[in-house]
Amino acid sequence: MKFPALAGLLLLLGTAPAAGQERPDIGGSLYNGIGQSTATASVGGAAALPATRFPCRACHGRDGAGGREGAAPPIRGSDLFRATPARPAYDAASLRDALEQGRTPDGRLLASLMPRYAMDDQTFAGISAYLARLDSLQRRGVHPRAITLAVAVPPDNAATARRYAKALQAALDELLGGQPIHGRKIAVALLAGDSASILAGTEDAVAVVGLAPSTRLDVTAFTDRQVPVLFPLFPLAGSEDTTIVRGLMADRQDALRAIADRLASNKATAVTVIDAPGCGDDAGSFAAWFPGAGTRYTLSRLPLPGDHPRDVLLLCPDRRMARRILHDLPASSRIYGLAGELLSSAEAGRHHLVLASPEASLVSGAAPGHIVDVHARTVARLLVSALTSAGRDLDRTSLVAAIGTVRDAEAQLDYASDALNGTAIVSFIETKPR
Ligand code: HEC
Repeated sequence: MKFPALAGLLLLLGTAPAAGQERPDIGGSLYNGIGQSTATASVGGAAALPATRFPCRACHGRDGAGGREGAAPPIRGSDLFRATPARPAYDAASLRDALEQGRTPDGRLLASLMPRYAMDDQTFAGISAYLARLDSLQRRGVHPRAITLAVAVPPDNAATARRYAKALQAALDELLGGQPIHGRKIAVALLAGDSASILAGTEDAVAVVGLAPSTRLDVTAFTDRQVPVLFPLFPLAGSEDTTIVRGLMADRQDALRAIADRLASNKATAVTVIDAPGCGDDAGSFAAWFPGAGTRYTLSRLPLPGDHPRDVLLLCPDRRMARRILHDLPASSRIYGLAGELLSSAEAGRHHLVLASPEASLVSGAAPGHIVDVHARTVARLLVSALTSAGRDLDRTSLVAAIGTVRDAEAQLDYASDALNGTAIVSFIETKPR
């Protein structure tokens, strides 16, 4: 297993909540069901609920092109303010009627699946403006002769990001030799500065690629602004929305499942699960998620009771906390966990560690090398393939959708069978005490 190649990345895996997230605008909040909105919504005459429970996006799609749920029609400004064979053009007053009363400009009542919203003037102005912006929001970074992909340079992981951007550019040059795809050259833009200027820079990018682990900028900092995040350098959580996020290594849920399988195959019958404040709730949930046939899980607070347990599970996304706990665990225990959380805290030769590592699977395959370079070469192939199949009529949503059709034999990725990551393969890194 290639420790040095992974070490730089794993140093920053494990996170505190990302700062620097601004509140999305009032219309974007209502459309996407993010944050707060004062509007309410009612479906089929039922009691009114907060409108963010019924985000427009769920039925009309992130891009407003329609068709996600039932026969939800397209509702971009360019669709609504134009007459169709089925109805006259909307204006502000008739749009408000449609949202509040469910009535179209020609007086037809919309199907009851379309919620009836109640909103103040400010919220209505916000949602109309957002619908009008949907087209341009979708086409960010797509120019007549170029496509701009962004690599963000988080201040707390700048070296990794800069190295990544170079590697990606080199890999794209090698694959394409500067040739355009459907008439557009692929440009890689580096977004540096503080969190706010990085986020502002995404306004001119079709997607953020190869995001480096950072405690300042996480995936949602971008997706809340409708910027797709493609192939971060760290495992995703597993619950991300595949219409705006794609990864290329197994996610945290896959890794946890792999640990449960490993415990079973190691015939660990009694597992002590560390339950420490500050380490999140996964310890308590693990046994319920992955009930092992022959494995009994016992939640245990620190310090551990006198008898040294044989098998210990430590899940702790806060790396500083993880380091402290690991230091106090007996050398005689076999400690299971995630490489991203524990590897950088491991004291050489002191513990017996069994660490699930989606990252290691990436570099242990057919193409060894430094993880940043292997990752960048893989991403270049995936992007070229997706951009080629997405066609000339490209936007953010169609690019992310096109990844769903990609198969890459070399990296064993198949997005038709695993939509989020293309793989669920998890390697293990095992260190034995000297
Ligand atoms: C639960 C699914 C759902 C949600 C959530 C939803 N819609 Fe709809 N919407 C529909 C369906 C289905 C129709 C088509 C109904 C029909 O034609 O009878 C529709 C129709 C519309 C229409 C009429 C379009 C036309 O061409 O006449 C507009 C405008 C609209 N929705 C806007 C919104 C907005 C804005 C939101 C969020 C604030 C939203 N919808 C949330 C399902 C939904």
